[in-house]
Amino acid sequence: MKIAIASDHGGFELKQEIVALLTELKMDFEDFGPFEAKAVDYPDYGFKVAQEVASKNFDRGILICGTGIGISIAANKVQGIRCALVHDVFSARATREHNDSNILAMGGRIVGPGLARMIVETWLNTDFIGSHHAARIEKIAQYEKNHA
Ligand code: RB5
Repeated sequence: MKIAIASDHGGFELKQEIVALLTELKMDFEDFGPFEAKAVDYPDYGFKVAQEVASKNFDRGILICGTGIGISIAANKVQGIRCALVHDVFSARATREHNDSNILAMGGRIVGPGLARMIVETWLNTDFIGSHHAARIEKIAQYEKNHA
């Protein structure tokens, strides 16, 4: 599984923690920045990772801003992206099982490093269960196509 990760300045510190986790787990990932904590615009980083995932250069993405809200809103503007804003382990599992989310967003000013690590590991290790959930995702895909 290839993972693309990025943040803004509000998520920079937590991104570094998650980069360390992905390295420990020997995951195949690319860090799209930023590489220092200076102020940047979260849409630039949200769009970049979302485009990399939507174009299938990467299988999944992880995005972190201060709240996770702005960067998830940006990512969800890209066709084919199902970006889930998650701050608990139950939702991390549920959004993979039910929504087949392809990007995980978190708020670096909301979750601590320990919980964030558990969320990421749960999200990476949970499969989509398909069935009637697939039909619901297909409705979203059809809506995107019809309103592109
Ligand atoms: C940056 O200050 C902050 O607005 C950003 O990280 C994020 O929380 C936006 O949704």
